[in-house]
Amino acid sequence: MSDRVNFGSKLGIVLATAGSAVGLGNVWRFPYMTGQNGGAAFIIIYLGCILFLGVPGMVSEFIVGRHSQSNTARAYASFSSNKGWGAIGILGIITSTIILGFYAVVAGWCLYYLGESVVGNLKGDPAFVQSYFQAFSSDPVKPAALGVTFILITHFIIVRGVRDGIERASKLLMPLLFILLVVIVVASCSLPGASKGIEFLLKPDFSKVGPNVFLEALGQAFFSLSLGTACLCTYASYFSRHTKLHYSATQIAVIDFIIALLAGLMIFPAAFSVGVHPDSGPSLIFITLPTVFQQAFSFSPQLGYVISIMFYALLVFAALTSTISMHEIGTAFFHEELMMKRSAAAWILTGVCSVLCVLCSLSVGKAEIGLFGKSLMDFCDFVTAQLMLPAGALLTSILVGWVASKRMVREEFTNFETVRGKSLFPYYMFCVRFLVPVSILMILMHQFGLI
Ligand code: PHE
Repeated sequence: MSDRVNFGSKLGIVLATAGSAVGLGNVWRFPYMTGQNGGAAFIIIYLGCILFLGVPGMVSEFIVGRHSQSNTARAYASFSSNKGWGAIGILGIITSTIILGFYAVVAGWCLYYLGESVVGNLKGDPAFVQSYFQAFSSDPVKPAALGVTFILITHFIIVRGVRDGIERASKLLMPLLFILLVVIVVASCSLPGASKGIEFLLKPDFSKVGPNVFLEALGQAFFSLSLGTACLCTYASYFSRHTKLHYSATQIAVIDFIIALLAGLMIFPAAFSVGVHPDSGPSLIFITLPTVFQQAFSFSPQLGYVISIMFYALLVFAALTSTISMHEIGTAFFHEELMMKRSAAAWILTGVCSVLCVLCSLSVGKAEIGLFGKSLMDFCDFVTAQLMLPAGALLTSILVGWVASKRMVREEFTNFETVRGKSLFPYYMFCVRFLVPVSILMILMHQFGLI
């Protein structure tokens, strides 16, 4: 499309894409999964998934997106002679819409907890904090309204466009997020008894890993890198011709991993310092942590108060840069394919995601509003992270590795032979043709009891 805008600077590219990657996946999902799956052992498997499957997978999505400079459905359709491959792009749009629906529920909780920590309502004994969360999350109105509010905030950033909306928001929010994170990590790690938490994160105990650890680590790696949703493909369509794709992918994967590790260093030392084992699952940051912060910083309630506000502000910022990227995938699609104004396209997505968000919110803790014995919220999380993301990444690697013209892939990888590190191309091709698809297939088959 002739009015297409690119990101304005290299920094903008890195911060916007890292903003998509860094989100509740790092600060909410990673810590509770690590807590449930034995700590460091899970992290090692997770790191393996990031490096060997995640980075090549990211490069592949970048290649498809930057090559076409268009929305994801068109990008996939134009990457080979068979237009049918455009279905991967459509799958990505559906996946990211579902993710935005349930992700906004948790983002809304964060928004609420930010407000509640400012007014000092999160104080009380563990039983109080637990019942407080249960009463709030099962309320039919408040959490749903906050989730929809979060989608609307995302909407108003998206309609400002790629540079003035996405890039500007990322340049503001990402540094803020990093500063907040580092301050809380320092406070948490200097608590007495914090070393047990650090040890939990760094000393592997493989006897503690659960039976589904590989699929969980893979799903978490893809979720955290925003891989398999065509989100990276959409953002790459705004990259310049000079962006070094393999370099950017590695940079973003490293940033994403470091932030996840820092999130662990923020939560586990504080939890262990007051004798709490952080294996409570998804409610970890809403039930366990408010008590942990109070008890750990009981020597200075003012410090505890500030830390709690900073923590929920951090979650809100992290969530926002990610919801922006999920929203952009569908917005770009409707804007370009239906030839409608960007704001009208964005409203379609906002409407669909809001309905899903309300349903997910109503389903929390209620398997009756759900599928296959899971609440709709848990079902959406499971079906996207553990099925749709791996499927999207698998199909992308088959397209890029086996179907598309190798010359075209090489030209994108090497920026028409101008980039340093072009000798990495054969390794990349090996990963995309064999390592990524075979590993994803084996992990999926293992999960479903086929091997
Ligand atoms: N990567 C984001 C996170 O870690 C989630 C996300 C998934 C964003 C898919 C975009 C697409 O929170």
